[in-house]
Amino acid sequence: MREPLVRTINVIGCGKVGRTLARLWTEHNVLEVRSVLNRSLQSGRQAVEFVGGGRAIESYAELETADIVMVSTPDEVIQQCCGQLCRAGIIQQGVVVFHCSGSLPSELLALARERGASIASVHPVRSFADPTAAVETFAGTYCALEGDRQACEVLCDVLHRCGAKTFHVQPELKTIYHVATVVVCNYLVALMEVGLRCFEKAGLPRETAIEVMQPIVTGTITNVFKLGPVRALTGPIARGELSVVARQCQALGQWDQEIQRIYEGLGLVALELSSAQGNTNPDALAAIRKTLQK
Ligand SMILES: NC(=O)c1ccc[n+]([C@@H]2O[C@H](COP(=O)([O-])OP(=O)(O)OC[C@H]3O[C@@H](n4cnc5c(N)ncnc54)[C@H](OP(=O)(O)O)[C@@H]3O)[C@@H](O)[C@H]2O)c1
Repeated sequence: MREPLVRTINVIGCGKVGRTLARLWTEHNVLEVRSVLNRSLQSGRQAVEFVGGGRAIESYAELETADIVMVSTPDEVIQQCCGQLCRAGIIQQGVVVFHCSGSLPSELLALARERGASIASVHPVRSFADPTAAVETFAGTYCALEGDRQACEVLCDVLHRCGAKTFHVQPELKTIYHVATVVVCNYLVALMEVGLRCFEKAGLPRETAIEVMQPIVTGTITNVFKLGPVRALTGPIARGELSVVARQCQALGQWDQEIQRIYEGLGLVALELSSAQGNTNPDALAAIRKTLQK
């Protein structure tokens, strides 16, 4: 059994991510939430109710002191909020200040370090669309950290105590790191939408199309995790069917050139996987590449 912690935390920007983490730390008795500062007091009060602790405040002047400050605002205002936080005068030597952006470095909080804080960023790799569901399923979530050693040590500890797994990300590579999460999460949603539009164009009502899609999508995702992307790839490009690919490019060109571009761009990635499978004639794959790059 690990020693219970008696650390305190303030939350600036207690939205989806902020309230999920604050509630987890409260439920696991890891951190005591003190001040919660949102844009509106009403939103702060709702956050406090969800978290089950803390006090909603209206201004930086009302902030209590705390061992940790989480700036879980939208990315665009992190630096500005850090400036306001520093001017409030509660940053003392050894306080940990962190933000939750996946694409921005912890250096955004450099002003807090100048005041004696230890700074970091923590990016939980998951979607927080529904905070109640996120709390229930949080255990096992990977969190990417970077920043000062002391801050990272403290944050790894409090994250591990509520079931998270942590890994280090290089601050200078965070933008590309974040592209990975955007592609597999947000663009997966966009890709489903593209599929739905094609089904609809082919005459299926949207509700039917969603039902039709579900087994093929979930089956494919299971295969990717079980077999890896190379072995999971099926379809015309895996079989080297040039005529099918050419007809599909042509049909899309006549209907929707945005979807055609997506089809061609992703087709080139599928082509590399097909080539790695090694089951298809390289000449057929070369001809498909030409068609996709036209
Ligand atoms: N959503 C995700 O799935 C996810 C996943 C990983 C990381 N992140 C990162 O987590 C951070 C927060 O994202 P989120 O999705 O939780 O955002 P969100 O749900 O929109 O919540 C943002 C919160 O910040 C508050 N806020 C906005 N401007 C503020 C200001 N100037 N001063 C004080 N509070 C302010 C908002 O207050 P009001 O409620 O009063 O408007 C709101 O409570 C971002 O850095 C994001 O990149 C998000």
